[in-house]
Amino acid sequence: MSTKSELLKLLESNKGTYLSGEEMAGRLGCSRTAVWKAMKSLRDDGYKIKAVNNKGYVLDTDSDILSKEAIRLYLKNKEVFIEVKKEIESTNQYLKKQGIEENLPAGSFVLAEMQKAGKGRRGRSFFSPEKTGLYMSVLLRPRRTAQESLNITAAAAVAVCNAVEKICGVTLGIKWVNDLYLKEKKVCGILTEAVTDFETGDIEFAVVGIGLNLYFPDGGFPEEIAQTAGAILEPGVYLDRNILAAEIVNHLLEESEKEGIPAEYIKRNLVPGRTVRVSYGSEERIVLAKEILPDGRLLIENQQREEEILICGDVSLKL
Ligand code: BTN
Repeated sequence: MSTKSELLKLLESNKGTYLSGEEMAGRLGCSRTAVWKAMKSLRDDGYKIKAVNNKGYVLDTDSDILSKEAIRLYLKNKEVFIEVKKEIESTNQYLKKQGIEENLPAGSFVLAEMQKAGKGRRGRSFFSPEKTGLYMSVLLRPRRTAQESLNITAAAAVAVCNAVEKICGVTLGIKWVNDLYLKEKKVCGILTEAVTDFETGDIEFAVVGIGLNLYFPDGGFPEEIAQTAGAILEPGVYLDRNILAAEIVNHLLEESEKEGIPAEYIKRNLVPGRTVRVSYGSEERIVLAKEILPDGRLLIENQQREEEILICGDVSLKL
């Protein structure tokens, strides 16, 4: 690990607590000049490090720059592969490529401060500006067929809900299949993509992409999502996204080991009991959503009052 990386780890794990140059040099086993150079480089990267005479240096408690050093502090499995990008086309696209080329192990993940071509479900884009959200993709290697991929998506939805509840103190609902909602607004989208073995149909690996709108963006959401999108945090409330990212991965790795659809996925779902608009391709209809079945499919009643079971589709809560 470089001195800069070691110093960042030290500062992140002592956020808000002053450390003298001498103490830092001692703990890192390097000279004070080396500490000073690494400090300058971190400041150039945007880290707000305060220096006070007779007290030493401190990383601001409101510092919120994504880094593997900070995330690793809060991970249960500290050894996983992590990559943090300032900007990227899409973390899902990148991790799928890396997963194949580098044969990455389960639990590897990639985050970006912003995405230039964030991917949503059904070929849509995902609005991913900087300083607004958390955009991340996690590689999983489930021993399952592609048909069972609904389980992974459901596990991811539950994992994100639990992590957000713990770190942000906010309770989210799930809109079947995998959008997370707060007060009737979409605040998180999940896109699970699988790389499958063509012969057996088994999943070689899955990439779970998670996009969270944490803050209301300056200038608002783009017109096409302005009515549906919202933010998790109230104005003036800030958090350390490194902690949230680590907590999501911790929950996701645990949740994805379990068999079947989590009971919590069904319990948190906002759709049952509501009249909703369902679209699949160009087909659109108004139906009554009755129940999320134990295998994650949606039982509906159509306008002819017949029951049908949907395995996928887009549900809109607004008619
Ligand atoms: C949706 O709402 O349709 C799914 C959105 C998924 C967005 C996330 S952001 C991180 C990851 N990278 C992507 O390109 N997409 C997913």
